[in-house]
This record gives sequence, C-alpha cells and structure tokens, in this order.
Amino acid sequence: MTQCCINPSILSADFVNLEAELQKISNADSVHVDVMDNHFVPNLTLGLPVVQRIQAVSPVPLDAHLMISDADRWAPAYADAGLASVTFHAEASIAPVKLARELRARGSKAGMALRPATALEPYLDMLSELDMLLIMTVEPGFGGQAFLDLTLPKIRRARAAIEGSGVNVAIQVDGGITEETIVRAAEAGANVFVAGSAVYGAADPSGAIDRLRKAGSL
Ligand code: DX5
Ligand code: ZN
Repeated sequence: MTQCCINPSILSADFVNLEAELQKISNADSVHVDVMDNHFVPNLTLGLPVVQRIQAVSPVPLDAHLMISDADRWAPAYADAGLASVTFHAEASIAPVKLARELRARGSKAGMALRPATALEPYLDMLSELDMLLIMTVEPGFGGQAFLDLTLPKIRRARAAIEGSGVNVAIQVDGGITEETIVRAAEAGANVFVAGSAVYGAADPSGAIDRLRKAGSL
C-alpha cells in the first residue's frame, strides 16, 4: 500500500481564527494555502504577509497554491518566505521552466498547476523541473464545488508519463475531493489530495483527514 498525502485547504477554515484552525489539522501532511488575486480567478483571499504568519504558527509544512496572474514576478517571494512547496499556474507563467528553477534555487519544492481544460502534453518535457504537478479537478476560485470527472484521463496520462520517464513528481488534485471522489482520483494516479470543505466542513477535521488518507491510499 502506498500512503497518500492529505493537505487540507484553509480556504474553508475560519479566517478570523486561523491559528486555532491550523491546530485542528496537525495530523495532515501539509496545509494548502490558496492565494487568489481577484484577477487570475474571480475571488480574493490573502497574500504574502498573512502567509508568512501562517508559516510561523503552522504545525505542518505549507503548500501554497498561487492563483495569481504574473506568477513569474510574484511567486519567488513565497519561496523566499521559506515555504516547503510553492505551486504556480502554468496559464499565469510566461517562463515556467525558469520559474520552477527559481523556486527550487530558493529552497522550495516547485509545483505547477493546470486548470481543468489546460492540456498536459505541452508541459511533458519539463516534468523533471517539477516536484509536483497539480491537476485542478474544479475550476479554481472557490471551495465546495463538485469534482470534475473529465479530469480523470489527464491524471492517468500524467501518471503514465511520470512512470515512463522515471521522474519523481507528485500528482496533486484539488477541488471536490471527498471520501468518494478521492478513490477515483487515486485509482487514476493522484497521490496528494487537497480537501477544503471535506475537512473543515466536518465535525471532526482530524478524523476526516484520517478517513481521507485511508480512502486515498491504494
Ligand atoms: C479552489 C481551491 C481549493 C479549494 C478546494 O480554487 O484551489 O484548494 O479550497 O475546496 P474543496 O475541497 O471544498 O473543493
Ligand atoms: Zn487550491
């Protein structure tokens, strides 16, 4: 059995009590922090100063998901802040190879995200530049949306490409992950799962993490 990673998204947490909300997920692998700029996506969350405070108090490493335009300009500062992992969107980067290298050079893992309708194939030759590929399973912007099954073939193709080339790249999925959908995503090849409403909407967030981890580990 391969144990998967569960990264709860604080998008569904209580933003006024983030420190207490972080303590509820201390059994998670990382905390997924959704940064939105109201430009790349039609929603606004938080930026670097708040992420730095989250980093200072979080019991688990940070996995930042930057849903921001002009990622080439803004993403390196998140790596400079000491985050374990920084993920930018392919659609928001002019020079994704250069950006991934900059993130790694600053000591963070480099992640690249694809919206549901963005093809994987143009990026296959740069997989070795990445530590993580994030395949969005909803249109980014909001929590609580339904999982898009149309993304499953892309997850399968990504898994096949990674196995075929022997690179060490995690496949993260984000959006609509529940105890049911996590099984389909895991069977397709994903091994890192973001869950917002399924964790913070549960009566017992830490128990929800354990249940998701069990369901997603094949
Ligand atoms: C959506 C965000 C997600 C969101 C997932 O754009 O990237 O991380 O919090 O929320 P759920 O798990 O509720 O779909
Ligand atoms: Zn996210």
